[in-house]
This record gives sequence, C-alpha cells and structure tokens, in this order.
Amino acid sequence: MPEVFKTQALLLQLAFTSLVFLTSLNIGNAGITSTFIRSEWPSVDIPSDNEAFAVPKGYNAPQQVHITQGDYNGKAVIISWVTADEPGPSGVEYVRCVDQKQNKNVNTKYDTKYYYKIGSGDSSREFWFHTPPNIHPDAPYKFGIIGDLGQTYNSLSTLEHYTQSGGQTVLFLGDLSYADRYQYTEVGLRWDTWGRFIERSAAFQPWIWSAGNHEIEYMPYMVKG
Ligand SMILES: [Fe+2]
Repeated sequence: MPEVFKTQALLLQLAFTSLVFLTSLNIGNAGITSTFIRSEWPSVDIPSDNEAFAVPKGYNAPQQVHITQGDYNGKAVIISWVTADEPGPSGVEYVRCVDQKQNKNVNTKYDTKYYYKIGSGDSSREFWFHTPPNIHPDAPYKFGIIGDLGQTYNSLSTLEHYTQSGGQTVLFLGDLSYADRYQYTEVGLRWDTWGRFIERSAAFQPWIWSAGNHEIEYMPYMVKG
C-alpha cells in the first residue's frame, strides 16, 4: 500500500476508535468528581482537644449527630445523637432512649429537603437532610465511597474534600475511627472525638456502614488475671 494510503487508513482507524471511546463515555455517567488524592504519610491523629472535635456549646447539647437510611425504599431516616451530661429529653414522639443514645425515626417523602431540630432550649441544634429521589434505574444519585477514615489530619482533608464533592450519601467501607489504637478509657474518648468529627457530613446525609477489622476491639489487658 502506498505510504499516503497507509497514513489515511491509520487516521481513519484513529478517528473510529476515538468515536467508539467518546460514545461509550456518553453512555456511562460516572465521570471523575475530584482529582484529590489523600496523602498517606505522615498520618498523625489530631489531638483530642482540637477544634475538629469541638463539643457543641450548651449543657447536654446533642453531639455526634448522624443519620442513616430508615427503610429499604428511601422514605425514612433514622436520626441518632449522644447527650453527654445526662439522658436527653424523652417523651418526644418516636424517640427511643437507650442509655444516653437516642434514635428518632422520621417518615419522609422522596427528593425533599427536611430541617430537623434536636435537644432543648439553648442547647438545641438544627440540621437538615435531603431525601433520595423516587426509585428508578435512571434516578440520579451521587454516592461517596469512604473507608479507613480515622481521625488524622489526612482524615480531615479527605472529609473536607468529600463534603465539597456534592455526594448525597456515603457508603462506608469499614475501619471507622481507629480508636482501637488506644487503650482503656481513651478508646471510648476517641470514638467520641470521631463521632463529633464526622458530624459535619453524617448529620446532613445518610452514611451506610460496614465494619472493618479495626472495629474488632481486642483488649486482653482488660481481663482480670
Ligand atoms: Fe483498613
């Protein structure tokens, strides 16, 4: 084949390949939502008195607020929080008190923004969430996938990038707080700091949880010899 035809054939092949590639891009809608790559090292836990873990103002103010999907159809939301000083207000409809942890199940409509207020008086706090669209194969819905979050400065950067991404719900792949790196009462305290840390997202959109190996807390030193 003469050189000129060879070049033409190659160009044609390239154009055809590009067309197939671009067409397939149109079919899928995933795309790249962020070029952020979390740096791996150094990975140092943020001190527990840091602003990132701030306790909300007011006596017995609800903290560690987080929501989860309340049913299979996306028409209910479970709101959970902790009151640290004493069991919070009971006697509110649908509130269930277990120790100091409270869960309120709210029935909702599709694709609707809801504001919610928890706690009482000066200590009350307000948040909002947006419910998912009606179930349909083409219903647009943006998931975030996070795992191995922890509570380091890198964790903070990951979470800040996620909250800016427009994701509507988090599928959490396990290894939440890394509190298992601590001992005795520090373990519980580091779960609390982590609960306050993720509130900036988890109070506003459902996080779907799965457990990882760091959720297995092996504490042989707690056993009386
Ligand atoms: Fe992990």
